[in-house]
Amino acid sequence: MENINSKNLDNLERTALIIFGVTGDLTKRKLIPAIYELFYSNRIPGDIHIIGFARRDWDDNYLKDMFIESINTYSDQNKENEKFDQLFSNVNYIQSSFSEEKGYEELRTYLGKQKIKNVLFYLATPPESYETIIEHIGLRKLSHYASGWTRIVIEKPYGRDLETAKNLEKLVHSVFDENQIYRIDHYLGKETVQNILVLRFANGIFEPLWNRQYVDHVQITVAETVGVGTRAGYYENSGVIRDMFQNHLMQLLALTAMESPVGFTADWVRDEKVKVLRALRPYDGKGVLENTFRAQYTSGYVNGKRVIGYKDEDGVTRDSITETYLAARVFVDNWRWSGVPFYLRSGKRLPKRMTEIAIQFKQIPLSLFNWHNMAGDAPNVLVMKLQPDEGIKLTFGAKMPGHVNQISPVEMNFDYEESFDIKIPEAYVRLIQDALYGDATLFTRSDEVISQWGFINRIIDGWKEDPRKYLPVYEAGTWGPPGVDFFIKGDNRFWRNPEPQA
Ligand code: BG6
Repeated sequence: MENINSKNLDNLERTALIIFGVTGDLTKRKLIPAIYELFYSNRIPGDIHIIGFARRDWDDNYLKDMFIESINTYSDQNKENEKFDQLFSNVNYIQSSFSEEKGYEELRTYLGKQKIKNVLFYLATPPESYETIIEHIGLRKLSHYASGWTRIVIEKPYGRDLETAKNLEKLVHSVFDENQIYRIDHYLGKETVQNILVLRFANGIFEPLWNRQYVDHVQITVAETVGVGTRAGYYENSGVIRDMFQNHLMQLLALTAMESPVGFTADWVRDEKVKVLRALRPYDGKGVLENTFRAQYTSGYVNGKRVIGYKDEDGVTRDSITETYLAARVFVDNWRWSGVPFYLRSGKRLPKRMTEIAIQFKQIPLSLFNWHNMAGDAPNVLVMKLQPDEGIKLTFGAKMPGHVNQISPVEMNFDYEESFDIKIPEAYVRLIQDALYGDATLFTRSDEVISQWGFINRIIDGWKEDPRKYLPVYEAGTWGPPGVDFFIKGDNRFWRNPEPQA
């Protein structure tokens, strides 16, 4: 990964960032605050051209005002009018539908007139528009028009199944070369996610234990307290499998299970992740049903507040069988991990926001101490806490002081904010920076995204073969229905839930 230096700024001379869907939520909440942060910390030049492309009847000044409003609302950085003026000195709005020639023509004229050297396209639109936009970029030959580099950032969801992902791949590759394509998975932009690799490969003590010989199982949890909010229309057709598993959970799994890369370059890191994805044991029919557990939330209390059930969300049908919770038992069939289950779970409206990867080590081979609390649970767990309370925790057994021989689990803790005394930056800051600097390490490659879909698609097909009228339900604010516990108890294991089930 590249370091920041003046060379990066020089390389960004006469650069245009073209945001399709500039009037949308993603631009407002994430992209503009991230761009401001980059400029504020001197990582991008102030004269970068920011071109907004969207349908609404806005103009340059209104766009600039909206950018400032988004920073005022969503950025933690100091707000300075002088900085706003510098950063937004070259803001341009192109009002056009994505299928209209005229918008792209206007864009081309602008790039020519301003002698733009480098172009970063950013697709921040609903996925239905990706194909139209890419086709038009191709038709106007904008993918290879600028004299310097041209890249495209594509948001998730990248296709809605294997077939549509492959079609999208075909189209994108007919316009762009792979090294121009930056597929976003914002989890890779999170500091703590990147730290998985540092923990594993910058330290000598963990790697020897990181395998089937010492690891009993791995639990990857992405728990959310939020519901589907205003996105029910999208979510109804996605469910947690497409929304979280196909991308974020697959990536967390790949980073946890991968071999050491030859070096820390984009392709070498991604080569190793792809090998993990290819080694995932594929499930069919019965195997899918045995190794996955789906559920849907009903009304309940989250953080003390009453919330409605999924079926009552705006835009959800009464007979919806879209899963808002999924647990899966996954195996990486290679020499390192053979026989070690990876339990993956993610859900909305759970009691606590918590993303963590827990490596549960095996029980000691022989219990020497016939002491109270010795039997049963193996105390050695290494937990990478990805969010919130970012850090790493190692649990082990210690003798409780006193005349009664008793062993108690204790913890060694590393806390990010405490150790470094800085706020953890937003994922988008890092990702936009890397896309502008040309470092694709934290973006998913073509073969990766296709392998992810290959695995996920079999699960979706397996569910289709066994159509359900309804799914098990869980009350909002609980860790899922009882079936979720049976799912793992059958393997003599249990979920690491921070609080007892409500
Ligand atoms: C997005 C999903 O990719 O990730 C959302 O579409 C989800 O449904 C979000 O809420 C979670 O991201 P984070 O960064 O808040 O963990």
